[in-house]
Amino acid sequence: MAVTKEDITVPGVNGANEGKLLKEVPDDEVNLPRKPLNLPHPEYSTPRGVSPLISVPQAGLQYPNYTPFKLPELVEHQFTDRAIGSDPKKAALFGAATEVKHLTPAIGTELVGIQLKSLNDVQKNELSRLVAERGVVFLRDQDLDVHEQIAFGAYFGELHIHQMAGIIPDLPWVHPIHKDETAVNGRSHQIWHSDVSYEIQPPGLTLLRMDTLPNAGPDGYETGGDTIWASGYHIYQSLSPTLRGILETLQAKHSGLEQAEKALKGNGCLRRDPIETVHPVVRTHPVTGLKTLFVNENFTKEIVGLEKRFSDTILDLLNRTIAESYEYQVRWKWTKNAVAIWDNRATFHTGIFDYYPHLRHGLRVASQAERPYFDPSSKLQCEATRV
Ligand SMILES: [Fe+2]
Repeated sequence: MAVTKEDITVPGVNGANEGKLLKEVPDDEVNLPRKPLNLPHPEYSTPRGVSPLISVPQAGLQYPNYTPFKLPELVEHQFTDRAIGSDPKKAALFGAATEVKHLTPAIGTELVGIQLKSLNDVQKNELSRLVAERGVVFLRDQDLDVHEQIAFGAYFGELHIHQMAGIIPDLPWVHPIHKDETAVNGRSHQIWHSDVSYEIQPPGLTLLRMDTLPNAGPDGYETGGDTIWASGYHIYQSLSPTLRGILETLQAKHSGLEQAEKALKGNGCLRRDPIETVHPVVRTHPVTGLKTLFVNENFTKEIVGLEKRFSDTILDLLNRTIAESYEYQVRWKWTKNAVAIWDNRATFHTGIFDYYPHLRHGLRVASQAERPYFDPSSKLQCEATRV
């Protein structure tokens, strides 16, 4: 099924709300981004300190909510990474931690003794450097409600609003990660990807806070729903020099159309015209100066300029390499109110869907980064100069 603009025309776009900002969430402590026009259910507002998993249904609304509203197309905008210019030693951040655990050699660091909402700007900038270097940073037991999470994420860049997924009606920057007995039980939930890579400026720093864990173990034991991340830097470096030389010349098309079509076939809705964007197969990270592989099974549909069979073969090879690079992966066992912060530019991830039909719920906030680019002078991980 092809998606056309007509499919996503939303009734009411030119209606009573046009030109007006909807009412603000009661907000005594945090600054939220400016809200888009035409948000649905203006009568609803998420109370502070309460999971929308509870408050939205209590208001008589579907959760997550799929009521359509129209968003403008995303356009390229200025982005400066907060990590640039931060202390490479991260003295202010590490000085506040009681423990720094590097979970594997290649990827994943857990910070102990830190509350995200207590970090100052210097520490936040160092945290974003740590995320860029280690791919993903974990913190447990975070006292961070959804409003604070949005404000924290917005510090690092313009927040992404998903083109089709269910939302919290008054907090559209949040992507609820929500599965229960209504989910389709299948492996389609376990595909390695980086989030919304079809966007012009796909997210960089991305935060997921898990507030409800599945009781999927024996006798209702709380377990299941781990997430795995893999390092794009290390996977790219592991390829042969000849193959890397070829990949560095290639561009690939990333598409949001299939995701949009799925939404239209189901109960979902579309808020923007789905797009396809060409990105380099190998991109440079602006903070680390490292080369990282930037294709993924969910959204990368073809290598530009190659016959389909060659394009498919190369993408299949790369996707299989990502999935099988166990030495460059970290598997995170969630606990209630744990937060993962990953760099969506330099990592891949997938949830583990071993908990059907139990409930698992978290909230994701993603800040858009730069448009992907490739700098031929950028380095492999092993060539990186430690500063
Ligand atoms: Fe994801």
